[in-house]
Amino acid sequence: MDIKRIAVIGAGPSGLVALNEFLHTSKNGSSTINSYNSLENKKLPTNCAFDEIILFEQGSEVGGTWRYSEACDPPFPYDIEEYNKPYQFRQSMKISKNMWDKSGIYNHLFSNVPEGSMKFSSAQDIELSDTNVEMNPYYPFIKHEQVLKYLEKFCDVNELKKHIRFNSSVEKIYKDENTSKWTIHVLDKDGGIKIEVFDAVMVSTGRFNIPFIPKISNLKSFKGDNSSNALIHTKSFRNAKDFSGKKVLLVGSSISAIDILQYLIPACKEVYLSTNKSTVEPPKPVTDDKLVPGKWMNDILNDSNIGYVKCARIKAIINDGKSVEFEDGLIVDDFDNIIFATGYHLSFPFLDIPENDGKNYINIVSGKKDNNNYAHLKFNNIYMHTFSMTDATLAFSGIAHNTLLFLTSEANAVAASGVWSNKHTIPELTVQQQWCDLQNDNMKDGLKVIQNEQLVEFFDELCEFAPDNRVKITPLLNTEYVERSRLVLKKIFYDIANKVMEY
Ligand SMILES: Cc1cc2nc3c(=O)[nH]c(=O)nc-3n(C[C@H](O)[C@H](O)[C@H](O)COP(=O)(O)OP(=O)(O)OC[C@H]3O[C@@H](n4cnc5c(N)ncnc54)[C@H](O)[C@@H]3O)c2cc1C
Ligand SMILES: NC(=O)c1ccc[n+]([C@@H]2O[C@H](COP(=O)([O-])OP(=O)(O)OC[C@H]3O[C@@H](n4cnc5c(N)ncnc54)[C@H](OP(=O)(O)O)[C@@H]3O)[C@@H](O)[C@H]2O)c1
Repeated sequence: MDIKRIAVIGAGPSGLVALNEFLHTSKNGSSTINSYNSLENKKLPTNCAFDEIILFEQGSEVGGTWRYSEACDPPFPYDIEEYNKPYQFRQSMKISKNMWDKSGIYNHLFSNVPEGSMKFSSAQDIELSDTNVEMNPYYPFIKHEQVLKYLEKFCDVNELKKHIRFNSSVEKIYKDENTSKWTIHVLDKDGGIKIEVFDAVMVSTGRFNIPFIPKISNLKSFKGDNSSNALIHTKSFRNAKDFSGKKVLLVGSSISAIDILQYLIPACKEVYLSTNKSTVEPPKPVTDDKLVPGKWMNDILNDSNIGYVKCARIKAIINDGKSVEFEDGLIVDDFDNIIFATGYHLSFPFLDIPENDGKNYINIVSGKKDNNNYAHLKFNNIYMHTFSMTDATLAFSGIAHNTLLFLTSEANAVAASGVWSNKHTIPELTVQQQWCDLQNDNMKDGLKVIQNEQLVEFFDELCEFAPDNRVKITPLLNTEYVERSRLVLKKIFYDIANKVMEY
């Protein structure tokens, strides 16, 4: 490969760590990231493998999801007809007042991964402030602003900002067949378009941009309390106090739902929780805490004494626009709000353009087999969850959702550095296809792409493409610690729900 100029898209954790990785890769295919200490890793190679690396960020700051803003995307996409599909939300080259570009972080959000596991391998030493239990009631978890501080310090130590073009939204990426280079159309905040050419592109635009809301009969007729929050997706949720004294229907049973539920229970008049099942399952007995992924959430969902009513999947909005019929026949009247904690589509509007027709750079499908009324969040034809099988000079980071996202994005970037600097070659297409087929066969429904028990093998395989001397990532994969810490999440849930803990 002859890679001189690289474009990285997105200044969230994935894009920042990719930029840093490329800057530290030398022409001879080795890396100057040789330690877990950020100061020791400051040194750059005298002979960088790449002449220029530019990171394009649509916002004006770094941090991605971790940059909380009061401003949010519309609570519900009333103007979008097929609101359960990703395509009409954000379309390439369409400047609209709403670009679905706000973070989905709400003001009292704390991490659900312990702080030690939300650091990059190249910057294990950068401290997150207030991580001791006296200063931080959520310990070992951390408030969202602390994660942002970590990312800012990571940028400062590595002097990354000079490589970033802010207020630069990438609207098109396509390959010019004559030059074999990637053409990128970048929109600035005044509506100007710049066209630039690169040899390779790392897409790091995140997976939580476009909300998924299931198609439900008469949904748009729901009036509720007639407020702007009558129908809302969690992406635009900012504070449980907005729902004080209300009768709320929360939809979903994964992390967003459980997380918001703990704040709604003490704040609302009544809370109903609609799961994705056609009937309500009888509660399972709560047995000993075991380190089974997701068990802490199951325990909560099967505890009928916490102060919410569990319901089946919604069938339709009926009567006066305040009543909901569920699939098991139950009808409940007088809801004030419906909050959709139903997740996000994986979406890349800048690739979904006529210039790329037939290219199949990434194939995105529903996250539930045989159910198209579900988030389009699974992908295939991406070798090692990193390289497009159509063209390995297009890579992705941060799309293989699992428990350890920071390290995964970093490993994606490490592999891209090794391959794009010609230290390693990726195998021929038949081998790539076999790898992707195996992933598809073993894929479970839902957001998670890599299960905990597969992580070490995946990282080992991916890091075989690492530049020489690159410090190892695999020793830092401690999923057992993450799962154990989640027992603390369960305790925090009960403390907040029962008003033992202020937030
Ligand atoms: C509510 C919520 C809570 C979460 N909690 C946790 C947690 O506790 N622990 C954890 O590890 N993870 C958590 N996550 C996941 C979180 O997204 C990741 O930690 C991390 O932010 C992913 O980084 P990223 O860089 O891939 O994506 P993002 O952080 O989303 O960053 C993507 C960046 O790309 C930019 N961008 C997008 N499109 C374009 C474009 N066309 N042109 C230019 N720039 C563009 C965006 O503006 C953004 O800055 C949470 C996610 C959500 C939504
Ligand atoms: N730090 C934090 O504390 C925190 C807080 C919030 C979110 N997050 C992060 O945000 C990301 C997204 O999480 P998420 O919970 O928003 O998305 P998610 O994990 O994809 O979950 C979506 C949920 O919606 C349900 N669903 C889909 N269609 C439905 C329908 N028609 N009726 C009822 N339920 C339906 C799904 O059901 P199935 O069970 O059938 O799939 C699933 O439970 C994750 O990375 C998570 O870690 C973190």
